[in-house]
Amino acid sequence: MSGIPHDHYEPKTGGEKWLHSRLPIVGLIYDTIKIPTPINLNWMWIWGIVLTFTLVLQIVTGIVLAMHYTPDVDMAFASVEHIMRNVNHGDMLRYIHQNGSMLMFLAVYLHIFRGMYYGSYKAPREVTWIIGMLIYILMMATAFMGYVLPWGQMSFWGATVITGLFGAIPFVGEGLQTWLLGGPAVGNATLTRFFSLHYLLPFMILGLTIVHIWAFHTTGNNNPTGVEVRRTSKEEAEKDTLPFWPYFVIKDLYALALILLLFWMVVAWMPNFLGHADNYIEADPLVTPSHIVPEWYFLPFYAILRAFTSDVWIVQIVQFLSFGIIDATFFGVLAMFGAIIVMVFLPWLDTSTVRSGRYRPRFKLWFWLFIVNFVVLTWVGAMPAEGVYTTIALIGTTYWFAYFLVIMPWLGISEKPTTPPATIEQDFVETVKAQTTRGGGGSTGPEPERVPAE
Ligand code: HEM
Repeated sequence: MSGIPHDHYEPKTGGEKWLHSRLPIVGLIYDTIKIPTPINLNWMWIWGIVLTFTLVLQIVTGIVLAMHYTPDVDMAFASVEHIMRNVNHGDMLRYIHQNGSMLMFLAVYLHIFRGMYYGSYKAPREVTWIIGMLIYILMMATAFMGYVLPWGQMSFWGATVITGLFGAIPFVGEGLQTWLLGGPAVGNATLTRFFSLHYLLPFMILGLTIVHIWAFHTTGNNNPTGVEVRRTSKEEAEKDTLPFWPYFVIKDLYALALILLLFWMVVAWMPNFLGHADNYIEADPLVTPSHIVPEWYFLPFYAILRAFTSDVWIVQIVQFLSFGIIDATFFGVLAMFGAIIVMVFLPWLDTSTVRSGRYRPRFKLWFWLFIVNFVVLTWVGAMPAEGVYTTIALIGTTYWFAYFLVIMPWLGISEKPTTPPATIEQDFVETVKAQTTRGGGGSTGPEPERVPAE
C-alpha cells in the first residue's frame, strides 16, 4: 500500500530535460494527475468529473450549433427547426446540448450537497467553495440566456418575466431593465446580446473551473471522514492516500460511463421529457402562455421568488417601514437572490469544529430536511402561485434561510459530535473491527477486503 510512491516528475531523456528547463508543462500535468488522493473517496466524489466532462460537451456541441443558428427574431426559431431537420445529426446535437445542460445541473446540485454533507467548504477549502459558487451563478446565467435562443413561447415569456424582476428594483430598476434588454421589451437586441453572452460565459466557467481545481489541489481533497491527510505524518499520509492516476481516474471513468449510458437513453428515447411543449411554438409577444415555468433546475428559486405575496405579514411590515419602496415583487427578488448569496457564506455560518457530517448526529437530520425541502421547493415552483402552494413555498423559503442563518451557526455550538478518527486508516480498521464483531466475531476466513466505509 504505502509502497506506491507519491512521486514527482523527473525528466529523463534529453528532449524531456530540454523542454522541462524551458516550460515545465509536462511536470505540471504529471504532478496534477499524480496528486495524492484520499483512499476513501466514495461515489459522491464523481460529480466533479461529470461536471468537467459535461462542460466540455456543452462547449463542443454549442460551437457546432452556433454554426447553424441565426440570432435574429425573425429567423431564430426557423434556424433551430433547420438544425433539427436538415443539419446532419442536428437533432442529436441539439438534444445532447439541451439535456446536457440538465445533466450539468443535476451534477452540480449533487456536487454541492456532497460538499455540504461532508463539510468540504470548511477551512482550508473556502476559496474552492466560493469559486464553485461563482461557477454556479454563471451556470445559471448561461442556462437562462441559452433558453431564450430558440425563440419559443417559453423563451420569450421566461425572459420577459425574469428581466422584469430587475424592473422591480426601486429607483434604478426601469433603467437597468432597459439596459439589460437593449430596449423597452424583449426583442432583437435582447436576443443578439444573449447569444453573445451565452457563447462567452462557458469559457469563463472553464477558466474558473481550472482555478477551482487549482484551489483544491492546493489544499488536497476532503474525504468522508473529514481527516486532513496533509496534516498527518508522512507515513500516515502514505497509508491514507493513493495517486489520482490511475486509481481514481478508473473509478471516475467507470461512473462517467454509467451516467453517460443513462444520459444517452434520455437523449435517444425521451429528449423532450424535461422540456416544455410550449417552446415548440414560435414566440408571440401578443399571446401569453397560461402558465410560465422555468426549467426544473431554477424551480426552487422560482418558488422562493413567488412565495412573498402582498398578503404576507412580513412583506407588509417591510413595505410599511420602507415607505412602500420595498413592495412584494422586490421582496421576492431580494429573497431569490438572497437564497443564492447566503450559500456563499456557509464556510463562516457553520460554526462546528467537526468537518464531516458523518460525526454530527443532529446535523444529519437538519441536512436531510434541507434536501427534502429542496425537492419540495422544486415541486412547488412548478405549481401555480396560488392557494396552498404559496403557503408551502413560504414555509420552504423560511426553512432555507433558517438552515443557513440559524441552524448552521447554532448547531455548531449546541451539538455534541462523535469523535472523528485521527486517520483514514484508523477509520478503516475500526469499521472492519465493528463489521467482524457484528458478523459473529472471530472470523476464520481471509483478511477482509480493504474497502473503506460509507
Ligand atoms: C462547472 C462546475 C464545476 C466543476 C467542473 C467542478 C469540478 C470539481 C472537481 C473535479 C472537484 C474534485 C472532485 C470532486 O469533488 O468531485 C471539485 C471539488 C470541489 N468542488 Fe467543484 N466543480 C464545479 C462546481 C462547484 C460548485 C458549484 C461548488 C459549490 C459551490 C463546488 C464546490 C467544490 C468543493 C468544496 C470541492 C472540494 C471537495 C473536496 O475537496 O473533496 N464546485 N470540483
